[in-house]
Amino acid sequence: MIIDDLPTFVPPVCPRPLPLIIGTDIPHAANNGANTKLIPSPTPPVPAKGRIAIQMGAKGWQSNGSWEVGGAMTFFFIVHALMFFWIKLYIDYNEVRASFKIGGTSNNNENTQIEMEDEDVRVERVRIDSFINGNAQTELKKDANHIACANLEKTYKIGGILNCSNEKKLAVDGVSFTVQKGTCFALLGPNGAGKTSTMSMLTGVTSLTNGEGYINSMKVTTSLNEAYKEMGFCPQFGGLFDFLSVREHLEFYCTVRGMPMSKKNQTITFLLDKLGLEEHNSKLSKELSGGNKRKLSMAIAMIGKPSVLLLDEPTAGVDPAIRRAVVEVIDQVKATSSIILTTHIMEEVEALSEIVGIMVNGKLSCYGSLQHLVNRFGTYFVMEIRSKKEENWEAIDNYVRSIFPTVLFVEKHFNQSTWRLPKSDIALSKAFRAIENKKKELEIENYAISQLSLEQLFLKFAKLQAEEEEEG
Ligand SMILES: Nc1ncnc2c1ncn2[C@@H]1O[C@H](COP(=O)(O)OP(=O)(O)O)[C@@H](O)[C@H]1O
Ligand SMILES: [Mg+2]
Repeated sequence: MIIDDLPTFVPPVCPRPLPLIIGTDIPHAANNGANTKLIPSPTPPVPAKGRIAIQMGAKGWQSNGSWEVGGAMTFFFIVHALMFFWIKLYIDYNEVRASFKIGGTSNNNENTQIEMEDEDVRVERVRIDSFINGNAQTELKKDANHIACANLEKTYKIGGILNCSNEKKLAVDGVSFTVQKGTCFALLGPNGAGKTSTMSMLTGVTSLTNGEGYINSMKVTTSLNEAYKEMGFCPQFGGLFDFLSVREHLEFYCTVRGMPMSKKNQTITFLLDKLGLEEHNSKLSKELSGGNKRKLSMAIAMIGKPSVLLLDEPTAGVDPAIRRAVVEVIDQVKATSSIILTTHIMEEVEALSEIVGIMVNGKLSCYGSLQHLVNRFGTYFVMEIRSKKEENWEAIDNYVRSIFPTVLFVEKHFNQSTWRLPKSDIALSKAFRAIENKKKELEIENYAISQLSLEQLFLKFAKLQAEEEEEG
């Protein structure tokens, strides 16, 4: 190929060319270049030696420092720079002020918070603090704490990226607890209490604002990849791929866990069978009902029987038969794992959990075994009476008050009423005898006197959150 084959390209002629020349000793008249002839300048000033100049039509030669050539652009550049600098400063100022405000508030309130802190919660916090202040890794391991949270704190910024308001939400406010080997810790609380945020911090779904989480003595802030190997997580939402089938999900996660083929098939068959997913195994996840999605998330979390399981409402929306199966599976896995379970179904807690913590507005409000909490907070018996006719209610209420003067009326729904009997004033035998004696006369259909149930305990704390929200 020769150079002639190359097509020629002629640029269009500029009607008013603006020649750029560098000043020389040669006078303008002596410069006979073609361009300079196109726009003759009436009195063309000669650019000084070594200066760059541009010919600006009738204005003649303008040096590079003049307004037309570079000055205007430089001026607007400076104005823009200053403007954006002030905007950025304003945004940062709000950020910094907000963080000081949050820090300040928590410092100011620290003493009050600690004073208001529940005794059991405080004991656990101090115990964990002592691990942290000592040699956390070894101490935590020695104590067989598979999961530990030390003063976990999460603050969300409210609004989008462009929102420069100071609003922040303290979702988790200094939560400390441990979960020991082979136990299930029920993390309870009303919606918005901070349970999911706590789990999200432990699993790296969201960053920690403060504090530290430990999975098998590994810090989640620095060794999360290692911690993942020993962790199974069933998130409250998401975690599934719309266009993968149930079986493909399980195969994928088995492969991710590095499971050999022989174990893979065995695991998938077991989980599909246990969680009642066989009939859906070829359905895409986007085609599954909410309950079946929960079952699939639960199955994924259990692949490889991890030593730490975090289950965020695994049975929400699951039908009772399968819920029972899920509870059975969790119970079996518990022998070799430590579990954090959040749920709103108290029967599950009673069936599975050794330790219970109830969160209210981002704080742990109580912590301990179920019986311990019932004994501590259930300072009264709950008496429920169902009468045959609603009109009898007044007579029954008068009788109850006459026998138990310190009784506290709680509520009435149609022909069923509830009272609280302070344990310190009332012997259980006396209460039963008193009701039995008048059962026929007052037309009482049935009655029950019981100690505080977990559900009542939960409602007691949930009410606190509702009250605080109303005040706030
Ligand atoms: N990404 C987020 N941005 C802002 N606020 C959030 C975010 N996630 C949760 N929150 C808020 O944090 C609080 C705790 O939420 P969450 O941890 O989901 O509670 P729970 O799981 O107990 O229902 C709620 O008030 C919720 O609105
Ligand atoms: Mg949640």
